Amino acid sequence: MKKVGVAILGLGVVGGGTYKILTEHEGYYRRTQDIDLVVESVLEPNRDRARALGVPEERIASNIAEVVCNPDVNIVVECIGGVTVAREYVLAALNVGKTVVTSNKELIAKYSHELERAAKRQNAGLYFEASCVGGVPIIRTLLDGLQGNRILTMTGIINGTTNFILTKMAQDGLSYEQALKEAQMLGYAEANPVADVEGFDAAYKLSILASLAFHTKVPYTKVFREGITELREEDIADGKRLGYTLKLLAIAKQEHGGIEVRVHPAFVKSTHPLASVGGSFNAVYLTGDCVGEIMLYGRGAGELPTGSAIVGDVIYAATHGESRYSTFKNNASAEKDTKFITDFKSAYYMRLTVDDEAGVLSRITSIFGRRNISMREVFQRKDEGTGKATLVIVTHETHELSVRSAVSKIEALPFASVESVLRVIA
Ligand code: HSE
Repeated sequence: MKKVGVAILGLGVVGGGTYKILTEHEGYYRRTQDIDLVVESVLEPNRDRARALGVPEERIASNIAEVVCNPDVNIVVECIGGVTVAREYVLAALNVGKTVVTSNKELIAKYSHELERAAKRQNAGLYFEASCVGGVPIIRTLLDGLQGNRILTMTGIINGTTNFILTKMAQDGLSYEQALKEAQMLGYAEANPVADVEGFDAAYKLSILASLAFHTKVPYTKVFREGITELREEDIADGKRLGYTLKLLAIAKQEHGGIEVRVHPAFVKSTHPLASVGGSFNAVYLTGDCVGEIMLYGRGAGELPTGSAIVGDVIYAATHGESRYSTFKNNASAEKDTKFITDFKSAYYMRLTVDDEAGVLSRITSIFGRRNISMREVFQRKDEGTGKATLVIVTHETHELSVRSAVSKIEALPFASVESVLRVIA
């Protein structure tokens, strides 16, 4: 039976989960895969954490050199996170020909070109299923099952923290701040939640997924990004009344010779499959030119779901002679001829506060009319005792730049202010 030695760098939530899976399923993999997967080494500065997991003392390395020079280690699993130490250690492993499996989306989004070059030089593998959508095998689905398709669109809920917060706001009527606090208490959000709530985490994942789906480099810097920190519970409630659910969406499209990649909150019809993806769950809904529509759904984070994706990569690497690399030129930047669409099309929801007087609505509709923005739904409610009214408008599909221009024109009116603008996915 083939013996394959694994090293794990970092025994936090994901590294610890990977250790548990590999050790608890050892016999199962021997039986089903005909391989003896053995955790030969771990590198974890907090040795007590390693001991608590039951790692034998002699397998706790003291430094990265001990790991990468260990001839019994074939595959190095990186679960450190961040891009400083992780990048250095991953390069050290690849440079001596060890295959690397990582869950680090920031590292892959920023440095996959450099890491892949190092891997190719040494005929080593570089696998990163766990970097995107945790336990949901979206990368393998794109690279294997859907490889015969042109991927046309991909719309995903690919950040569990923000989905938990938005679900809480919608279901319990909490404010953003209250829902964030609850997410932090339950361990769904970090003490410093910026990477999740400002959409960086989703943007890194989308850059990786879009590059794989469209077979061309889509740098994370090209992803249009807006987070959820400005969202107000009134908008979620108004959207609900109109039959919409608010989600932080990651959207990638390839059409008319251009690529569109964006992460922002958006309303989806409450009957859309993505609307029912609640709490910390994730899903990716995609369209291929042959297969049509497909949705993958599951846990996007957590020790065992993310560990499941890592171990899937470890087994793939252990059972395939040839490593698999990108199908595109994996440079730091996009190819010169790749066109990125920034004036994308969408429908829009707008909430305005206006003076409740004659002629106000017609001034606003004429601003829309001049920009060829057509309204689909309008409703108004009186704000008691203020002489003001709330106006909620949903438009038909139009251009982002037309809406921005209309918003700045409305903001300049003395009798109206724009409280919120949200995109609506038809
Ligand atoms: N913070 C991430 C999320 C973890 O909420 O999805 C997995 O990338």
